[in-house]
Parts: sequence; C-alpha cells; structure tokens
Amino acid sequence: MNKVCHKSPSNIAIVKYWGKHGNQLPNNPSISFTLSKCHTETSIKFCESDCYKSNFFFEGKENAAFKLKIDKFFQSVTNDFPFLNNIELEIESRNSFPHSSGIASSASSMSALVLCLLDIERTIKADSHPIDLQRASYYARLASGSASRSVFPKMALWGLMPTVQGSSNEYAVSIEDIIHPVFKTYHDTILIVSSKEKSVSSRAGHALMDTHPQAQARYAQARENTQRLLTTLKLGDIEDFIKITEDEALTLHHLMETSTPPFVLMEENTKKIISKIRRFRQDTKIPLCFTLDAGPNVHCLFPQNCQKEVDDFIINELKQYCHNGTFISDSVE
Ligand code: PMV
Repeated sequence: MNKVCHKSPSNIAIVKYWGKHGNQLPNNPSISFTLSKCHTETSIKFCESDCYKSNFFFEGKENAAFKLKIDKFFQSVTNDFPFLNNIELEIESRNSFPHSSGIASSASSMSALVLCLLDIERTIKADSHPIDLQRASYYARLASGSASRSVFPKMALWGLMPTVQGSSNEYAVSIEDIIHPVFKTYHDTILIVSSKEKSVSSRAGHALMDTHPQAQARYAQARENTQRLLTTLKLGDIEDFIKITEDEALTLHHLMETSTPPFVLMEENTKKIISKIRRFRQDTKIPLCFTLDAGPNVHCLFPQNCQKEVDDFIINELKQYCHNGTFISDSVE
C-alpha cells in the first residue's frame, strides 16, 4: 500500500460567508485568517481495487458518520478523479484540538482530505510537480465552503471581487502579499463557552438565507465590508479592522436570530465576554476585538505586541466564563 499524509489548519473568517447557491458557490466574498495550532492531520493508505472501498478512523476509532461524508464527497468528484472507481482507501484523521471543543473542524478536515486526494493523484500519475493550491482550494470548496480558504497560509479571500485580480467564487486566493505585516502577527485565543454540538448545522443555516428578508442587503454589506477590509489590511488600520470584524460577527448572529425559523447560538457567557472585551478596549486602548463563528465560542483577536496584557486579561477576567475554564491560544499561520 502507498501512503500520503497532509496537515491542514482551521481558519476564522473576518468577513463571513453565510448563504450559498449552485454547487457550493458563495453568495458573497469572505476573508479569513488561517490558524496554526488548530489543524487536522489526515493520512490515507491506498491500493488498487476492483471497486471503491474505504475505511475511516477518526482519532483511532471507526466513525461511520464521517465515512459517509467522505464517501459522498469522493463519489461526487469521480469524473475528475476516475481512479477513485478502483481504489481501496484506509483513511485516518486526527485534530489537534479536542473534537468536543465546539470548534468547527470541517475547514481543516476537508482541506486535509483534498490535499491527500491530490497527492494520491500525483502518486498514481507519477507526477513530480507540487500540489496546485488553487486546484486544492477548488475541490476543498466542493467539500466544505470555508475549507477553500484553509489551503493558504496567513489570509485568504474566497469569492469574486472585481478589484482583486484572480479572485473567484470557485476557489480562494492568498492575500498574504497585500496585507500589512501587523496582521501577520495576529493571535486568536478561542474561548470555549460551550463544547456542545451545534444545534443547527451550517448547511441548514446557509439554506435559511434563501428565504431571509434581509439576504440581498446582507450580500451587499458583505461585498462592501470585503472591499473596506482589503484596504484596511493593506494600510494596517487596526481601528477599522476592529469595526469591520465585530460588525461582521454580530451581523452573522443577527441573521441567524432573524431566520425563519430563528435560531440562537450565542449564550449568556458569550454576551458577557463581548461586553468585557469592549470595556477593556475602551479603558486600556489595547486593540483587542472579538469575532464569532457559527457557535457560542468567542475568538479574541489581537496583534502580537499586546499579547502579555491580553493574556493577563483573559486569565483574570474572561476564563471564568469558559466551559471548564477552557481556551485555546492560537495565532495566524
Ligand atoms: O464552510 P461551511 O459551510 O461550514 O460554512 C462556514 C460558515 C461560517 O463559518 C459561519 C463563516 C465562514 O466564512 O467561515
């Protein structure tokens, strides 16, 4: 049996992707930081077979639900990867972060899976070229939209922006080269408010945007925020970065809370943490801000040069609101 192995990080969106159409195409562009500590490592042993066969082990244990998801994805791309019709796969995957931490793992797991798929293709074709990251991003997007951004380090943009050459709804592009150095030093300390499974899957959440009365206004706002964020990132304008980041996080949750049917993912402790962060920033002028994913956990974003003060603040003031006092200190890859 041959073997391929890839590690791929999670990412946290600053401008959020929420709402899609067609085959996993986004209704608005999004921009994210790629993280370094939170990642998935996937290895696949493979050999030729009379038909497609797979086994999937997550953290050493067979996992039928994940296997089904992977089988479905591989079946959907067999036209592009015909060798999948005659292959036996033994897939093993593990996350660097606890599975029950409430951190979405689809971005890291699906991008790691796609990198493995492209590496299997290279091995079979005896192709010595490195993996084409744009192509990896394209297939990662088909597996899970936000995964398209995880194949690029530092920061990525997914979605067509007329002002960014090469940008596309079909894959993400790196924006590492156009961002001010301060944003390459950013930290993301993830406060685990709850480790429960999400009550509404992101698939169901995206679908609710199809009938949301504010959908069109939201997509226009996201396009504007993306354009404004690109300028902010270039200039190193942290004040504007904070405004856009927090506005996007609260907009995402507002959209969820005003969907039909509505759903609420923020918890009391999420709100307490948000107020404390805003008060801390006002009192100290330290540029700490927050963002939220589709869940109650709070991502605390700040540049490296204020790490000491923010770490102390988190330990002394915010840790008490975390589930079992849990938080994960991550940073931009
Ligand atoms: O990639 P999905 O379908 O799990 O959607 C992710 C949506 C958000 O995490 C809420 C926002 C984003 O852009 O990552």
